Amino acid sequence: MMIVRDVQQLRAALASRRSAPGTGKEKKVGFVPTMGYLHEGHASLMRAAREQSDIVVLSIFVNPIQFGPNEDFESYPRDEERDAAIAEREGVDILFIPTVEVMYPQPTRTKIRVSGLTDRLCGVSRPGHFDGVTTVVAKLFNMVQPDYAFFGMKDAQQVAVLQQMVTDLNMNVEIVPCPIVREHDGLALSSRNVYLNEEEREQALVLSRSLREAREGVSQGEIATVGELRSFLETGIASSPLARIDYVEILTFPSLEPLAAEERFEDINGDIIAALAVFFGKTRLIDNMRLEKAEVLSHV
Ligand code: PAF
Repeated sequence: MMIVRDVQQLRAALASRRSAPGTGKEKKVGFVPTMGYLHEGHASLMRAAREQSDIVVLSIFVNPIQFGPNEDFESYPRDEERDAAIAEREGVDILFIPTVEVMYPQPTRTKIRVSGLTDRLCGVSRPGHFDGVTTVVAKLFNMVQPDYAFFGMKDAQQVAVLQQMVTDLNMNVEIVPCPIVREHDGLALSSRNVYLNEEEREQALVLSRSLREAREGVSQGEIATVGELRSFLETGIASSPLARIDYVEILTFPSLEPLAAEERFEDINGDIIAALAVFFGKTRLIDNMRLEKAEVLSHV
């Protein structure tokens, strides 16, 4: 595995690996953008990239412009040595670790904004966050020129927003959404889980438990409308005294259109998503479940 820290080195490393001499074929590049402090969720993205591509590039960059002024940019966990060891173990070919100066050498005047999809869910609680994400991901795509880019569905809104950006801007890359990875007890993996104390971590299990029970309720026809699903989730989460709900929303996916409370699942075309953001102490966790049309109708 080669570690590169600036854009020139990255481009040179890619150029020398990309062309497969004698075959006339370009090798496929799979890209996994991350903010580091890698966990099994990231490892699953690297494995998906390894399976689907000839060259795997992983980036680690804690992107300042996607954090709000009172958020955790400074304290975001970082451990480059451990991350490099994980990347190497997972078969990454090129590890790109730029500094803030490399990514933003002069005050940047260009931002990528996807409208509509970003004015709901996390876009409300974290104003400007998605502009920071789309801007850095567009820059990284220009640097790496990947064929495929792998993102976890825990950040389902991020996946929808990036898919829209790629379509709108005719970017020549396929966004590959990958399933949420959970701890053995159900907690969705996140680099921010390290912020939770023992009691908060225990109570945070209410998120995956409520989503799991809700999925059962929907597939058995006991939860039939959007409003019933939302109150089921809200009641479940509120049973944990430490939980403070930021949002519980049911929307279409990937268009993220809000759904009226009285809408019945069997009348909704396409997939839907139940998305949660909940504070435990100072830590804000997100989780979600996607319900496919066939699953919603399985009891009928
Ligand atoms: O999901 C993340 O870790 C970040 O939002 C991303 C996509 C690496 C952009 O900084």
